[in-house]
Amino acid sequence: MSAKTWNIAFFASHGGSNMQAIIDRLKLGDLPAKAALVLSNNSKSGAKQRAEAENIPFYHLSSVQYPNPDELDKAICDLLIEKQIDLIVLAGYMKKIGASTISKFGGRILNIHPALLPNFGGEGMYGMNVHNAVIEAKAKVSGPTVHVVDEYYDKGRILGQIEVPVLDEDTPDTLQARVLEKEHILYPEIVAKIVRGEIVL
Ligand code: GRF
Repeated sequence: MSAKTWNIAFFASHGGSNMQAIIDRLKLGDLPAKAALVLSNNSKSGAKQRAEAENIPFYHLSSVQYPNPDELDKAICDLLIEKQIDLIVLAGYMKKIGASTISKFGGRILNIHPALLPNFGGEGMYGMNVHNAVIEAKAKVSGPTVHVVDEYYDKGRILGQIEVPVLDEDTPDTLQARVLEKEHILYPEIVAKIVRGEIVL
């Protein structure tokens, strides 16, 4: 009998460059995993265009269709169950994951954060806020963290990090670019380790 294939759901709100890096890794064809769907709260996201270009089913689920957050959470959770999703990869998803989804898929939801957690994480720490804070704190190193998502912001088990130097002349923009390059290496590596059984969730 062949090994299980992991059905991966990507959640992305914006450009989706991390999602693309993982899809490109999956396309090498040596991992027991498949990009099963892309979900976004943003019907105009770059992630949608990427999903279409890659022929991956795209779903737009947001407060537009479900003003009640609990109903949105349930719709998302039902979709994930229907599509037999094994792993949820958050890649620049700007919404908090709801209680039903956490309770059904807890431990199998990943996120990437653009700083070395547990530093520079928590509510409000996203996007440029993170890089601004790192530079203001005069930190000497930063870099991405991949972690498991639980009900608290940026608190779940850390699965991997890559250190990136913070240079004296860095601006938040230059630092972001240097960290993002490493995100595109780290996230596919961690997903590969999970589906190969080298990291057990
Ligand atoms: C990345 O900086 C990631 O660390 C954060 O959101 C951003 C997503 O970028 N969680 P992209 O949409 O993958 O290009």
